[in-house]
Amino acid sequence: MIEEIYSPSSGRYEAGMEYRRSGRSGILLSELSLGFWHNFGETAPLERSKEIMRYAFDHGITSYDLANNYGPGYGTAEETFGYVYDKSFRPYRDEMFIASKAGYDMWPGPYGNWGSRKYLMASINQSLKRTHLDYFDLFYSHRYDPETPLEETLQALVDIVKMGKALYIGISRWPVEATKFAFDYLRHRDTPCLIFQDRLNLIDRRVETDGTLDNVRENGCGFIGFTPLAQGILTNRYLNGIPADSRAMQQHFLKTSQISDDLVANVKALNDIAEKRGQSLAQMALSWVLSHSGVTSVIVGCSSVSQLADSLQAVKSKEFSAEELYLIETIASKIKM
Ligand SMILES: NC(=O)c1ccc[n+]([C@@H]2O[C@H](COP(=O)([O-])OP(=O)(O)OC[C@H]3O[C@@H](n4cnc5c(N)ncnc54)[C@H](OP(=O)(O)O)[C@@H]3O)[C@@H](O)[C@H]2O)c1
Repeated sequence: MIEEIYSPSSGRYEAGMEYRRSGRSGILLSELSLGFWHNFGETAPLERSKEIMRYAFDHGITSYDLANNYGPGYGTAEETFGYVYDKSFRPYRDEMFIASKAGYDMWPGPYGNWGSRKYLMASINQSLKRTHLDYFDLFYSHRYDPETPLEETLQALVDIVKMGKALYIGISRWPVEATKFAFDYLRHRDTPCLIFQDRLNLIDRRVETDGTLDNVRENGCGFIGFTPLAQGILTNRYLNGIPADSRAMQQHFLKTSQISDDLVANVKALNDIAEKRGQSLAQMALSWVLSHSGVTSVIVGCSSVSQLADSLQAVKSKEFSAEELYLIETIASKIKM
């Protein structure tokens, strides 16, 4: 069957999305980015993936977050991206900021994991093939490798930029001291780290206290937060039981055993505050992350267009009163996962 030609909304840059500068760089990212960790792999309906990607682009999302191992089915989220990109987005490549990463296990043997030059170089080549792209806008070291010399990983990233396979580089989930070394190393090779990626949500605020956010800000680097909804906990998903099609039911990264009565009671209390603010809980959780200074963008996951449509409204209400913040943060601090 011949697919209809995609014609994006002409109002995509007037949909309310803000574009925030990543640190001291020339790059502006949409404050919401679309994440491909779950929901775009080989088990996800292709039609739904296409609709989500089109909806995102139509509503001003320019930033797309992939990784070599996203699926499920390693590599399959990148394949889905590549398929939809060919059919819908190729004419709009210059309006898109597309990131991928390498750092977790991808293929068997000693060269398919962690941070060696061999792995990073092979992985970006594979990712480019799967996504049908000529280059990535951003390529990340996905995790800190305690065994490989940092210089080896970092020089591979610098060389990836020199080879034109990525325009910028980023770092995800490195400890603070190693990140300081990385910022220095990269700056001296004229390839400053564009953005640092780590978890930030109402339940997990480690980056605020362990020096990560301060270090990133002081070094003129951007920050992009992942798992802003705590994989769905900070939404209405589990307020009335555990839906059959929810992430928790997959029993993998989120497990049904984590959805305790205590947790649900606290989430309900947060939901009440969100309602008083005229927001869904997902919107409030996203607005909270976006209200942090130094946050360039927040990566949202979604398993339907309606979830994305709901989450997108978060950009409209990013102000919190001191009283609201106190209440929200006090309740959230009681949630243990
Ligand atoms: N660098 C890293 O190591 C790293 C690690 C993790 C994630 N990430 C990135 O961050 C992205 C986001 O992570 P995540 O998928 O865990 O994010 P999340 O945004 O915290 O959770 C997404 C899940 O929340 C539910 N949801 C989303 N919007 C909703 C709404 N409006 N109402 C109700 N439920 C809603 C859906 O659950 P259901 O599926 O149950 O419907 C969805 O799959 C990833 O895709 C990836 O790009 C990076």
